[in-house]
Amino acid sequence: MSTLRTVIEAHRLIICVGAGGVGKTTVAASLALQAARLGRKVLVLTIDPARRLANSLGLSRFGNEPVRIEHPELRGELWAMMLDPHQTFHDLIERVSPDSTTAQRIFHNRVFVAIADSIAGSQDYMATEMLYDVVTSGRYDLVVLDTPPAKNALDFLDAPGRLARFTDQRIMKWFLAPYEEPRGFGRLLMGTSAVVFRLLGHIFGREFLGELSEFFQAFRDLYDGFRERSEAVIALFSDPDTRFIVVTAPTASGVETARFFLGELRARGMPCAGVAVNQRHLVGEEPPDAEQVLGPLAASLAGDLAPHTAEALVARLGAADRRLRELSALEARRLQVVRQAMSPGQEMWQARRQLREVHDVEALLVVGAQLLGP
Ligand SMILES: Nc1ncnc2c1ncn2[C@@H]1O[C@H](COP(=O)(O)OP(=O)(O)O)[C@@H](O)[C@H]1O
Ligand SMILES: [Mg+2]
Repeated sequence: MSTLRTVIEAHRLIICVGAGGVGKTTVAASLALQAARLGRKVLVLTIDPARRLANSLGLSRFGNEPVRIEHPELRGELWAMMLDPHQTFHDLIERVSPDSTTAQRIFHNRVFVAIADSIAGSQDYMATEMLYDVVTSGRYDLVVLDTPPAKNALDFLDAPGRLARFTDQRIMKWFLAPYEEPRGFGRLLMGTSAVVFRLLGHIFGREFLGELSEFFQAFRDLYDGFRERSEAVIALFSDPDTRFIVVTAPTASGVETARFFLGELRARGMPCAGVAVNQRHLVGEEPPDAEQVLGPLAASLAGDLAPHTAEALVARLGAADRRLRELSALEARRLQVVRQAMSPGQEMWQARRQLREVHDVEALLVVGAQLLGP
């Protein structure tokens, strides 16, 4: 059985997954901060920090540049970096290109320029690319990865092979086919693709078709590079020094997604340390009686107030307290369902719903301390 402290002390990569809005970014930053308190050199790679959190971490600029966060409680080092998907994509093309001529050909190709934005917009994919670089750079003892808000929960886990699969697709073969023939354009005059190509040529011009085919040919040259990197990222996902942490809020939808991730991670053999429950409403064991706690105070103030004001206030506080208790009990029942989906050895950690949003280092320290426990 592992405490959260040993999880952040003993691993090189921690990946926070979960539904959107539950607090993945908050938990990732809190855990990175705690690991830096414990003396490690940590990078938190964040994707979509709330603006005020980004500002207070000094992350207002994009650019894949790690920023150091100073705080008197940190014995180690804390660095934060906000993913810049466009820069990441650009760097990736350069890295997997067999030579700089190929890279330049791709960057200047109009088809590439037209689709680069939408490929780079795939934050899941770019996050896994970035991850590989920072983890293998050897600059940090620990990298904590916040994952992007995904429409589909599996987008992130499936991300690594995406470009390789795209490059491998039949559609590419279809586009390339006419150019593979020794007689080149000659084959364009035959078969189905010939008809379509002639039509496209009429619409977009022969020059555009040339660029399209050049784009696909260049991309095909990158296939091996894409495949090698995606295999390396998948290996990183199941490395003995890696742990996934499922982050959830005690809401119906958050809990459902958490169960789903626990199952998927198990099915894929990806190591998951447990579940971090954020934004939990916790109440003491003994229900206080509002009348008993506040009655004497209310009675002493009643003289200055309109008739029955103090009684009405006590009654309302009593009702609010009962509602809070019911909410807390409902959350406990929901989390019971998550516990049943956990494997032996996995743990559950909790941080409270704070009175204010978590927008600075002090608030992150509070959340992290609650997660780690006494
Ligand atoms: N324990 C908490 N108490 C109060 N507010 C929280 C807590 N955790 C997160 N928040 C707030 O909830 C919002 C969403 O959190 P965030 O970490 O960005 O979620 P995600 O990354 O899962 O989308 C943010 O404004 C954050 O400040
Ligand atoms: Mg987030």
